[in-house]
Amino acid sequence: MNSIENIKCIVLLFLLACTISAQGSAPKDKGSSAAPAATGATAGAKGSGSGTFDVKDYGAAWTEACAATGNPTIVVSDGSYLLGPVNFEGPCKAPITIQLNGKLLGSTNLGAYKENWVVFYKVTGLTITGTGTFDGQGASAWPSNKCRSGGACKTFPMSVVFAFVENGAIRGIKSLNSKYFHFNIFSSKNIEISNVGITAPEDSPNTDGIHLGDVSNITIADTTIGTGDDCISIGPGSTDVTITGVNCGPGHGISIGSLGKYANEKDVSGITVKGCTLTKTTNGLRIKTFQNNPSPVKADNIHFEDITMDHVTNPILIDQQYCPNGACTAGVSTVAIRDVTFKNIKGIASNSQTITINCSEKVPCTQISLSNIQVTCPAGSTNVTCANAKGQADGTLKHPCF
Ligand SMILES: *[C@@H]1O[C@H](CO)[C@@H](O)[C@H](O)[C@H]1NC(C)=O
Ligand SMILES: *[C@@H]1O[C@H](CO)[C@@H](O)[C@H](O)[C@H]1NC(C)=O
Ligand SMILES: *[C@@H]1O[C@H](CO)[C@@H](O)[C@H](O)[C@H]1NC(C)=O
Repeated sequence: MNSIENIKCIVLLFLLACTISAQGSAPKDKGSSAAPAATGATAGAKGSGSGTFDVKDYGAAWTEACAATGNPTIVVSDGSYLLGPVNFEGPCKAPITIQLNGKLLGSTNLGAYKENWVVFYKVTGLTITGTGTFDGQGASAWPSNKCRSGGACKTFPMSVVFAFVENGAIRGIKSLNSKYFHFNIFSSKNIEISNVGITAPEDSPNTDGIHLGDVSNITIADTTIGTGDDCISIGPGSTDVTITGVNCGPGHGISIGSLGKYANEKDVSGITVKGCTLTKTTNGLRIKTFQNNPSPVKADNIHFEDITMDHVTNPILIDQQYCPNGACTAGVSTVAIRDVTFKNIKGIASNSQTITINCSEKVPCTQISLSNIQVTCPAGSTNVTCANAKGQADGTLKHPCF
């Protein structure tokens, strides 16, 4: 994720308008020959308030489930089904479960999309579970994404979007080959993502695993993400985020930010990343802020602990001059970074520059703590750069930092 920082935000802004305008619209390619029609093996108890609903007509299934009380469940049976694009909107009467056993396929016709692929909007109580897959069939779209080559960067459909969702869970399922981000969790709270597998080829463009923005109380656990881009990016307004047992790579690692690109961004606070492994990623643990932020914004109470690096290029990186494609207004960041701890970080770097803490000369980082850092570089001695940072490091750091 580089040149498309601005697109991330535009996507969010468009979301509201699009979910409303697209309500009830039928997918253009529903029933096309690209996939067998849905069979929905378990159709029983329709409308009874606590049965299961088949996905034969998913729009109707959602409407029915949303109006039901009890434990409405939408079952996607084994098999492959072309779906949507579609917006599943609440509020609903009762929490809804989507039992995803089969594979849902996104249309390969970019013209079929108004915005994203599968959007859940204003739903309180939503569980997506099973062993099935959201397959964005992104290979059809990637060649027309010129974001990395610096050309006009269009927004492509994200696979699964939670917008204004509360009390949600995504468990066990897989997401494959999104056209753009795999999951975007936006303006949502109390969401658990666990035992999910997110995969796309290393060279697929902007296929970030999970992006968070304006969220609180989010748990991401025991999840494997390898897409070539950010495994997890934690955007402005994210609070109370816990990430554990995530295997990340290949890609750009786990990032906080970028922060400070737009006016009036909300603070980031209360982030814990623990017990994760990064394999062959360009960055490991990163905080990135633009150098000329239009409004003040803070990032604090951020803790990285028990992390294994397996051939990571920049294992620990705080970069307050983040400037994708070198096209930024000159300036010095006033994003305030405070209380960030790196504890028990071990493994192998693929570059001698194992730690770079480049903070702002206007608003230095404070309370940065580095303890038990055991990251080696097979090519020789490691280097540590710290600028405009205050904090403490224990004896494991062989270089002066603070
Ligand atoms: C946080 O979210 C989880 C669901 O992921 C929920 O069980 C828990 O009660 C929430 N905690 C608070 C403080 O709301
Ligand atoms: C850190 O800052 C120094 C000095 O401004 C710069 O030369 C270096 O490229 C920066 N490193 C990163 C990774 O941003
Ligand atoms: C360490 O990094 C700094 C800043 O990038 C650089 O000036 C210095 O030469 C490096 N030292 C070694 C030993 O590589």
